[in-house]
Amino acid sequence: MPALVLLGAQWGDEGKGKATDLLGGSVDYVVRYQGGNNAGHTVIVGDQKYALHLLPSGILSPGCTPVIGNGVVIDPSVLLSELSGLNERGVDTSKLLISGNAHIITPYNVTVDKVTERFLGKRKIGTTGRGIGPTYADKINRVGIRVQDLYDESILTQKVEAALDVKNQILTKLYNRRAITAEQVVEELVGYAEKLEPFVTDTVLVLNQALEDDKVVLFEGGQGTLLDIDHGTYPFVTSSNPTAGGACTGSGVGPTKISRVIGILKAYTTRVGAGPFPTELFDEDGAALRRIGGERGVTTGRDRRCGWFDAVIARYATRVNGLTDFFLTKLDVLTGWEQIPVCVAYEIDGKRVEELPYSQSDFHHAKPVYEMLPGWSEDISRAKSFSELPKNAQAYVKALEEMSGAPISAIGVGPGRDETIEINSFL
Ligand code: IMP
Repeated sequence: MPALVLLGAQWGDEGKGKATDLLGGSVDYVVRYQGGNNAGHTVIVGDQKYALHLLPSGILSPGCTPVIGNGVVIDPSVLLSELSGLNERGVDTSKLLISGNAHIITPYNVTVDKVTERFLGKRKIGTTGRGIGPTYADKINRVGIRVQDLYDESILTQKVEAALDVKNQILTKLYNRRAITAEQVVEELVGYAEKLEPFVTDTVLVLNQALEDDKVVLFEGGQGTLLDIDHGTYPFVTSSNPTAGGACTGSGVGPTKISRVIGILKAYTTRVGAGPFPTELFDEDGAALRRIGGERGVTTGRDRRCGWFDAVIARYATRVNGLTDFFLTKLDVLTGWEQIPVCVAYEIDGKRVEELPYSQSDFHHAKPVYEMLPGWSEDISRAKSFSELPKNAQAYVKALEEMSGAPISAIGVGPGRDETIEINSFL
């Protein structure tokens, strides 16, 4: 029962799509377990580039069944347009499975996300504005709308009315917006029901049966460890659990079934939105990483904040996820620097700190302690094995591995599907 979890070890955008796609050929099911269309995966297949937001990247691998688990929040209009966009490009999406327990991002959740951010002003989170937080808040408040509700109009109406009771008070009295009527929301949601019906099923049963049958199931996390609602840089986080435990709650597969947890780790660091980021660069190096690494959000089009590799964060990701392996991505972006700084510890109020501080205030004050590693200038994109990398690139990888606490089992040396060095097989 090979069940693998693949998740971001930093603040998301580590290149998970590529890693999932690399495994795609041998994987029977690819499952998204949390988040929604706030995620952004770029997958390059041949000369085609695909930007996926909600769909699991396994949708591009024929023979693989993509699954949207119960822990995901779904904006039906986005899902349907992503599906039709792929269909127009000849991708068969008919195998998609959607959990009936997944929650729906309603139009009022999107409105609340946007107006709340505006209201927060300087204190805003920098959300993607896709309604993610308010939808999870409704789920926890037990006023959420689930996919299965689309198939019972009377229940749906009652639930939408209940949710809007409070929301309309807030929208009209606090934010000075117009009230939203239940009828308009129900009409829109019912309009999606028929189109989604062929995909909706009991995904918990399907996935557990698949594991019984020795199928390979890959759980694909959105965002990253430091954006986790429990283990991330709260409150500058997303509203779900991208960390490994989320794969279980967000899919209905028990922890005893998970065999491997792979952390995707970029060879440097990026972050979108607000919040602390100790190794952030505001100089020419930061601009160069952004330019060479193409660090612009797939979902929002926002420039990503860029900085050097942070081993403290990598160690933390190993710990909170129980990582068995790392997939190091974008090593090629670092080609050309004479020396590459790597953050090995923090200095907080004059003291050297080796591990991520649990206190938010301390983390906001953390200054990186750098070690300089020698760089390389050779093109590494054609390297097929670790030994084909220049000596200094090999040493950089080995140093990161030692500092991060789990073996680096694959290395991305270019954006293309085959521009990856596999060191240990994931299967
Ligand atoms: P939300 O997920 O839209 O609520 O946004 C919360 C925080 O998570 C913001 O800082 C976003 O920029 C960040 N975020 C959400 N999704 C992603 C992602 O896929 N990659 C990187 N950052 C993300």
